[in-house]
Amino acid sequence: MHRRQFVLGALGAGLTAGSAPAFAQAGPKECTRAAIPFGAAIRVDLLRDDQEYRRAVLGHCQLVVGEGGLKWFDLRPEADKFVFDQPDRLLAFADANGMRMRGHTLAWYAAMPKWTEAISTKKEAERVLYEHIDTVVGRYKGRIPSWDVVNEAVSEDPTAETPMRKSIWQDLIGTQHVELAFRRTAAVDPKAQLVLNDFGFENPTDRCRAKRAAFLRLVRNLKDRGVPLHAIGLQGHLPGEQEIDKDGISRLVAELHGMGLSILVTELDVIDDKLPRDRAIRDEIVASRARAFLQAIGDVCRPEAVVTWGITDQFTWVPIWFRRKDGDPNRPLPLDANYRPKPLMRAIQEFTRAKA
Ligand code: G3I
Repeated sequence: MHRRQFVLGALGAGLTAGSAPAFAQAGPKECTRAAIPFGAAIRVDLLRDDQEYRRAVLGHCQLVVGEGGLKWFDLRPEADKFVFDQPDRLLAFADANGMRMRGHTLAWYAAMPKWTEAISTKKEAERVLYEHIDTVVGRYKGRIPSWDVVNEAVSEDPTAETPMRKSIWQDLIGTQHVELAFRRTAAVDPKAQLVLNDFGFENPTDRCRAKRAAFLRLVRNLKDRGVPLHAIGLQGHLPGEQEIDKDGISRLVAELHGMGLSILVTELDVIDDKLPRDRAIRDEIVASRARAFLQAIGDVCRPEAVVTWGITDQFTWVPIWFRRKDGDPNRPLPLDANYRPKPLMRAIQEFTRAKA
């Protein structure tokens, strides 16, 4: 089957009347269906400037998300100016090639332009957030089917007193900003799938256990209040040196799935700064961490998408924060710097195809 037919069939299948908006076919019981869609975070300039990069995206991806472009910093250099160039180009690329595009992200603590620091009241913060959602979601209504509405709202080290991460939204509006963002997005595009996206759940550590607990409390509260939250994005920036807490992940996913939520893997990569230098050994460990993470999710439900945060080791955010001490380049992604598939690509393909 041609890829375009396959992708549109698979992604459209979830949009059934009466059900929560879905990005792709969901539900563990069906027998015949396509593989789980695979995608990657994209640097849109490279699609134009680097033909090898473009070929890799065309060859491997059924969906795309901008690594930047829809963040406030990129979209809104000034308070009264929106720059849609990057997301417009990515959406045109997706449309021309039978792919779907996810939107990342509407409310986040990071990548905020300087002018937002002058916002000082709850009222003004709400006004600016609503203006943002109305303008951005309104522009892409019916064309971007799935949004990371709120990104990384829960603290990295949550305590009972401070479960939420500091941000302009949390500081000025409080935890209610999550509910407000979801309700406003649903009002602007009622058919879009609305996702709460976060990371730091996957290891057998007290920190990850606290994160899972705080995250579940937030989600339960949103669901109890009837907030239009449809899916959870498990980012999956996996620290390579740590074991995956398969039981912990499976239990988290079971709780979320039990609340009627779909699961998407939204930013998968394996951070390899503390792994052995030997590349073959390192690549196997990277693949095994991702395999364990995906299996722990797949044991409970079928994720609607598996998205890696980049496609090639040549272009990855990882060295910004996790450069290796021995100077060897990081290898967190499915293709190496020369676009050769690594064991991680095999692990992802085995998972997405086994779920077909
Ligand atoms: O575009 C400029 C370039 O012109 C300049 O030469 C270069 C020099 O530093 O900087 C370039 O911009 C950087 C950009 O990444 C390049 O892609 C920005 O400084 C840098 O802040 C930006 O970082 C991004 C970061 O989010 C903040 O927006 C990363 O690429 C991106 O991978 C990362 O993505 C986040 C997700 O949104 C949320 N989850 C975690 C994930 C990884 O941190």
